[in-house]
Amino acid sequence: VTDPLAVYAAGLHGAPLRARVAGGGTAPLPTARWLAAADPVDRRVLARAAGPVLDLGCGPGRHVRALARAGVPAVGVDLSPAAVALVRAAGAPAIHASVFGRLPGAGTWGTALLLDGNIGIGGRPVPLLRRAARLLRAGGHVLCELDPPGSGCGVDSIRLEAGDTASAWFPWARVAADGVGELAAAAGLCVASVWADEGRWFALLWRAA
Ligand SMILES: C[S@@+](CC[C@H](N)C(=O)[O-])C[C@H]1O[C@@H](n2cnc3c(N)ncnc32)[C@H](O)[C@@H]1O
Repeated sequence: VTDPLAVYAAGLHGAPLRARVAGGGTAPLPTARWLAAADPVDRRVLARAAGPVLDLGCGPGRHVRALARAGVPAVGVDLSPAAVALVRAAGAPAIHASVFGRLPGAGTWGTALLLDGNIGIGGRPVPLLRRAARLLRAGGHVLCELDPPGSGCGVDSIRLEAGDTASAWFPWARVAADGVGELAAAAGLCVASVWADEGRWFALLWRAA
């Protein structure tokens, strides 16, 4: 059984990458988008971030690079050595770690990012949001990307596929924009705003104390 990180690395290095949902179909994963520069929607979301920013599951680092260009201090965190190597090769800082592992500056970050599906990391959004909240200073924010309202919340078992190679199954959560309030409250966060931009949905969650 292949480690998801090995299949993901093959995708970052050019192999067409797909995600298979247990009991469902497959969908191509947008590696080209992750490897590209931040797009205008990303840049408008990032304009709401207060530094210093910790990008949880930063991938190849398009958001960290865009923030650095805008003069906002930002650091990426990713479990994938291949992703971290790409961030560093682009001249941006990245930590090779799990978002649930030991991270520097806990309790001092201005904003934690969970963009482009990363609210799904670990398959349990409440512990993930609670972890993000504890990384923030009081008054800090989580900026997260969500599924459209009405699409429901849940957890899928997925695996990555590239060519003939399939990874082990792992959990990935889905959170709809109209379901984030309850999960955020359970994690000690308040919803400051929820909005859509060109069909993508986002929320700004606030750590009150
Ligand atoms: C959907 S990709 C998003 C990449 C990036 N945020 C972007 O939008 O370009 C998810 C990323 O989360 C990372 N990841 C998954 N689980 C993680 C964990 N527990 N800790 C840190 N990173 C993780 C993966 O390695 C991958 O780079």
